[in-house]
Amino acid sequence: MKKLIATALATAMVFSSAMAASAAQVGIVLPTKDEPRWLQDQASFEAVLDEAGFTSDVLFSQGSSATELTNVESLIEDGIEVLVICAQDAAAAGAAVQKAKDAGVTVVCYDRLITGTDAVDYYVTFNSFAVGVAQGQFLIDAYEGQTDVPLYLYSGAVTDNNAFIFFAGAWSVLSEAVANGQFVVENCPAIEEYVGTVLDVDADHDALADILGTITTNWDFAVAKTLAEGNLVAADADAKGDVAILAPNDGTARAIADAFTDDADVTSYVITGQDAENASLKYIQDGKQSMTVWKNTATLAETTSALVSAILAGEDVETDAVYNNQVIDVPSVEEAVTVITADNLGELIEAGNFSQEAIDGAE
Ligand code: BGC
Repeated sequence: MKKLIATALATAMVFSSAMAASAAQVGIVLPTKDEPRWLQDQASFEAVLDEAGFTSDVLFSQGSSATELTNVESLIEDGIEVLVICAQDAAAAGAAVQKAKDAGVTVVCYDRLITGTDAVDYYVTFNSFAVGVAQGQFLIDAYEGQTDVPLYLYSGAVTDNNAFIFFAGAWSVLSEAVANGQFVVENCPAIEEYVGTVLDVDADHDALADILGTITTNWDFAVAKTLAEGNLVAADADAKGDVAILAPNDGTARAIADAFTDDADVTSYVITGQDAENASLKYIQDGKQSMTVWKNTATLAETTSALVSAILAGEDVETDAVYNNQVIDVPSVEEAVTVITADNLGELIEAGNFSQEAIDGAE
């Protein structure tokens, strides 16, 4: 009997020390392991938070809001003080962050804003509007002086607030270029009434939702490829030739580029991207993708770490922007982005920002 109690006690002690070892001050929830973008964030967080001396735990939602909620619940259970969350679905994540708030946890939206709730404290993000502007402007510059260039538009997931911002950013410059005859939009009748008009992310949210609904890739490579193939089947040969393609990110850009490459009537294409994934840097070196927008996750992780540090110390948190999430104005910190093309990629590799070996090995 004594022995049994001793064993039970020892087990309980091992169990509680294991719990203590796994307890984290900061819980990080990221959307999926299946896109290289979020593995970049994970690596950046682990390096930065470790160095700052915080205990942290990174969990992935694997494309599911239900898993996201379970992840948040288990982090709350684990005793986190700060939740850093990149939502799977902007609206659905409201329930998860409400639970965190109710448990006294400070909530930081990371990269993607959670909408329709007052249960968020801060937002750390790249300048997503600037991402869209850079994509749109790149297409304009690539076809400078030309007219009637066929333009194909694609967007991210409508459940992601960023998809609205990226598209509104791109359209803020493309709108005029379509109005003045440089481009002809070939795959999006819903945009026609907005040619010559700038769309505002907040005020024109419903119009943007309708437009995005017709050109969404859902951030999914297979959806992107099927959509592009369908657009190409529907388009006449004179809507092909040398074309411009607004692709929202790298994964979808590669899928869409492959579809356009396979079409005999497409002579050449200029296509945008985002994230500086190694596979896309390879596409850029091989002339199969024209640009990407690099969002340095090391910088965003450092910014987040500084914010977390101030929160944990009970100090004032410095912010430099405000984003409205349909319920409140969320104090935000915004980071700049960098355009990468075949022209500056070599320098960035030489400076150690990217590795040629990793690019060569990317799938
Ligand atoms: C991110 C992009 C990413 C996309 C798909 C967006 O919210 O800002 O960097 O490519 O989601 O995961």
